[in-house]
Amino acid sequence: MLLVSRLLLAVVLGLTSTSVIASPLVPRVPHERRGALPRGWNAVRRADSDFVIPLRIGLSQSNMQSLEDFLLDVSHPESPNYGNHWSPAKVAETFKPSAESVSTVRGWLVESGIGADRVRLNPSGGWLVANVTVAEAEELLGTEYYVYEHADTGHEQLGCGQAYHLPEHVSPHVELVTPTLHFDAKVKQRRGVPPEKRSVKSKVGNPGSGPVSPKTTGTIKNIFNQLEHCDEQITPICLQALYDFVHIPLATNKNSIGIVEYTPQAYVPSDLDMFFANFSKSQIGQRPNLISIDGGTIDIGFGGFDVNGESDLDLQYAMALVGKAQPVTLYQTGDDVEGASFDTLLDALDGSFCTFEGGDDPTADPSYPDPFGGYQGALQCGGVTPAHVISTSYSYDEWELTPAYEQRQCAEYAKLGLMGVTVLFSSGDYGVAGNGGICLDADGEPDFPGFAFAPAFPGGCPYVTSVGATQVNPGAKVTDPESACMQVIFSGGGFSNVFPMPSYQKSAVEHYLSKYAPDYPAGTYNTSGSRGYPDLAANGANYVVAIQGEFSLVYGTSASSPVTAAILSAVNDARLAINKKPIGFINPTIYSSAFQHAFNDITNGTNPGCNTNGFSAEPGWDPVTGLGTPNFARLVAAWLLLP
Ligand SMILES: *[C@@H]1O[C@H](CO)[C@@H](O)[C@H](O)[C@H]1NC(C)=O
Ligand SMILES: *[C@@H]1O[C@H](CO)[C@@H](O)[C@H](O)[C@H]1NC(C)=O
Ligand SMILES: *[C@@H]1O[C@H](CO)[C@@H](O)[C@H](O)[C@H]1NC(C)=O
Ligand SMILES: *[C@@H]1O[C@H](CO)[C@@H](O)[C@H](O)[C@H]1NC(C)=O
Repeated sequence: MLLVSRLLLAVVLGLTSTSVIASPLVPRVPHERRGALPRGWNAVRRADSDFVIPLRIGLSQSNMQSLEDFLLDVSHPESPNYGNHWSPAKVAETFKPSAESVSTVRGWLVESGIGADRVRLNPSGGWLVANVTVAEAEELLGTEYYVYEHADTGHEQLGCGQAYHLPEHVSPHVELVTPTLHFDAKVKQRRGVPPEKRSVKSKVGNPGSGPVSPKTTGTIKNIFNQLEHCDEQITPICLQALYDFVHIPLATNKNSIGIVEYTPQAYVPSDLDMFFANFSKSQIGQRPNLISIDGGTIDIGFGGFDVNGESDLDLQYAMALVGKAQPVTLYQTGDDVEGASFDTLLDALDGSFCTFEGGDDPTADPSYPDPFGGYQGALQCGGVTPAHVISTSYSYDEWELTPAYEQRQCAEYAKLGLMGVTVLFSSGDYGVAGNGGICLDADGEPDFPGFAFAPAFPGGCPYVTSVGATQVNPGAKVTDPESACMQVIFSGGGFSNVFPMPSYQKSAVEHYLSKYAPDYPAGTYNTSGSRGYPDLAANGANYVVAIQGEFSLVYGTSASSPVTAAILSAVNDARLAINKKPIGFINPTIYSSAFQHAFNDITNGTNPGCNTNGFSAEPGWDPVTGLGTPNFARLVAAWLLLP
């Protein structure tokens, strides 16, 4: 049987091949497969067979099977090594691909007719790169290349058909090959957008359709800034009251907190001062410490809510909550032509993650120097020291990227955890649906009207901390229990279709599933024992934010993440002040029994989407608000007890 298929392959290659490269007469296996093309992309023609592409082969990293054990070893509160975080050098050395992987993959390329002089290993030892023609790539990978075009922008991109293949003996040594299946590029912003400023009305379950409907919220003239009105307007004092958050920082010289923004989104300096004038006078004139990554700039000007809203929100609340003494770092990532992806930031934080010649995946990530005329420097590889806590309010849907791409990036978040970094992501604003209210069909492809839930990435990565949204109920007092956010947005949550359930959340998630799992038709959400998210939550409704010289009311998990970051940063401050280590990857700790009462459990509300009510907030962990909202006083007490 094997012989027959080999012969058949040889015949097929002999008939169709016009190049001289040797036929790979070895059994091939599908290496990666794509379910659906991302929104807007269509194949318009076969790629020219003599077009040259930079084929990049990401080699399997060593010791990946132990990644979770290594991470738990330094992050689990009962581990004797709790807090003994790794140096970046130890991380790079531990996961560097083996010499065997390099020689196996190089050997296959050379046997297939790609001359040894054409194959290069990048400086970090993670990638093999060769310039090959489309015809050569098609034979190597058993696939076909097409030119894809984006319906809205007309932008063209090269990519292969539904799958690509590798020889059986090569596949285990490769994480992914590019350019192949990976699509889309720019990170999508979690929309903390007031309804009247949305360009498209997003009705949950109905992707992006319908006219803009006028709403009465939006900009506001009367600012209460009073604890009596936290159900109508959230200001810093409301959050301090809700989360018992009073802290005078003591170790600001050792502590750090970072907020990530992707250009062209950028803050407006005068907006910060307008906000501080009302809510934190001593900070007037204060700015975040700008770290510009790959041409990241704040010099964007007034570009509408979509340009300034997110950054203004994140920075105003993070800065006001940590207070004047604690500097906030801004990772402004990407130029204003190509923008950036999460990989671009990770390249700057960890040089060993980089490809050389720029870009991790030229189809999913931007290339620097920017071929479209933006930033002309080289891609930044390493050189940026990660802050102890890093908050990002942007995300994808899982279905938009391939599992291999997501796994590689998720492993990188685990490495940041090994180094003692707390990585927070907002969980999304469309409940159980994906960005824009998109849901999936039975094959996991985006569909309208889809019935299956569309989990977020990287919310579903078990090595980030995913933050959902809550609200002060209308008419309720700031001392009353909050509910899941059900105004304007719904807290993103659910179960990953890519990542299995990590051990640290097993009992919490299984408790939820056994007692409260909703009875939806099979295939509505992943019940195979997947990673559940979010991990925790914080208020996400009615934020007073200064945007372009006016105060607007803003909603979103976009707000919840930087607020949580500020609170966790204060925990770090308290620990650093007594010479303890930063809290690092917090998930194993917050799910542990010692922290059972450190969160305000949210037990009311749901996260609708895909024509369902989604999940419901229940006692204990739930896929709407996670473990609940932080109670700073209890959290800091519990964390000070840890070594
Ligand atoms: C591929 O071609 C480009 C452009 O000619 C060149 O800069 C690059 O060094 C080549 N890469 C390899 C691995 O040969
Ligand atoms: C607060 O904001 C209002 C509205 O923009 C502004 O007129 C006022 O001057 C601010 N308050 C202070 C104390 O600066
Ligand atoms: C469910 O999630 C697991 C990972 O936990 C994944 O392997 C599986 O393919 C997912 N099922 C579907 C139908 O997406
Ligand atoms: C539950 O939340 C709804 C708003 O979504 C609110 O009207 C209701 O009062 C809440 N119930 C409790 C018990 O908090």
